[in-house]
Amino acid sequence: MIDKINSLRNEVSQVVVSSPEELETFRIKYLAKKGVLTALMEDFRSVPAEQKRELGQKLNELKNFVSERYATLKETLQATETVDVSKYDLTRTATPFPVGSRHPISIVKNDILRIFSDMGFTVAEGPEIEDDWHVFSSLNFPADHPARDMQDTFFIGRNPVDVLLRTHTSSVQTRVMEKNQPPIRIVCPGRVYRNEAISARAHCFFHQIEGLYIDRNVSFADLRQVLLKFAQQMFGAATKIRLRPSYFPFTEPSAEMDISCDICGGTGCPFCKETGWVEILGCGMVDPNVLKACGIDPEVYSGYAFGLGIERITNLKYKVKDLRMFSENDVRFLAEFESAR
Ligand code: PHE
Repeated sequence: MIDKINSLRNEVSQVVVSSPEELETFRIKYLAKKGVLTALMEDFRSVPAEQKRELGQKLNELKNFVSERYATLKETLQATETVDVSKYDLTRTATPFPVGSRHPISIVKNDILRIFSDMGFTVAEGPEIEDDWHVFSSLNFPADHPARDMQDTFFIGRNPVDVLLRTHTSSVQTRVMEKNQPPIRIVCPGRVYRNEAISARAHCFFHQIEGLYIDRNVSFADLRQVLLKFAQQMFGAATKIRLRPSYFPFTEPSAEMDISCDICGGTGCPFCKETGWVEILGCGMVDPNVLKACGIDPEVYSGYAFGLGIERITNLKYKVKDLRMFSENDVRFLAEFESAR
């Protein structure tokens, strides 16, 4: 029996396999239930008692040796196994993954800021949580002006001063004028809040860009020209503008600006309610009271201001019918703007 064990060990140590099939043959021959080792175990039963100890040990060693040999053969086979490339299409690109896109409001905001920065305006920003002074009082709102009413403004607290969410970015004008003397030429983008019922046409928050230019001898004609250039760059060179008299507490005179409807070209259609014009912003000459409140001498300086809603401009450019789409984060909607930037 000892000879058998030795020759088996010898035999096993010389086996090499070159395919999974050969490896399996090895396993069946030596290690399976009906294999050589099991047979040897059977023989072991009839070995005389005095030899059992020595032979049992040898037999165990052989068993371990064969198992190890099997593991080694398996490992070498896996390491040398080559991939059959003919089964794969190596010209295919890797699975594409979505990379996201800029939000339409950001796209339009950046467009507007670029147009004004080309005309010499710098960007200024201010806080969304404001006080009564910066949002209303400094801007010449009378104490009982309806815009201060609870229906429009989200108040956060009333002591010691009114703390509220800004209802317009005009508050940033005040902050910049308080700290700087003219010339001042800024555009202020930001989110604003109004206590409105949410619908397709109104939301409790939206985005504005405020413009302000203060210097010596600034005139309404300067304002008109800057806004005309803006409208033509934003909506196309053929765009016309129209200024209608209006009222804001912080500007005098005040106006609202319309642009010629770019859907019908000004002849009238349902989009412009058959008027040929669509309103896009409010503007005017900064009221002397505002300059005074912010520490700027109205006898020396004058200026203009304008304010526009980014959602409104985005609606005109991309014909988004429901304002709520902008804040719902539906990727199918957002992905439509991928090609825009
Ligand atoms: N702040 C005004 C608004 O929110 C817009 C505006 C800004 C009008 C500057 C005139 C001048 O409606």
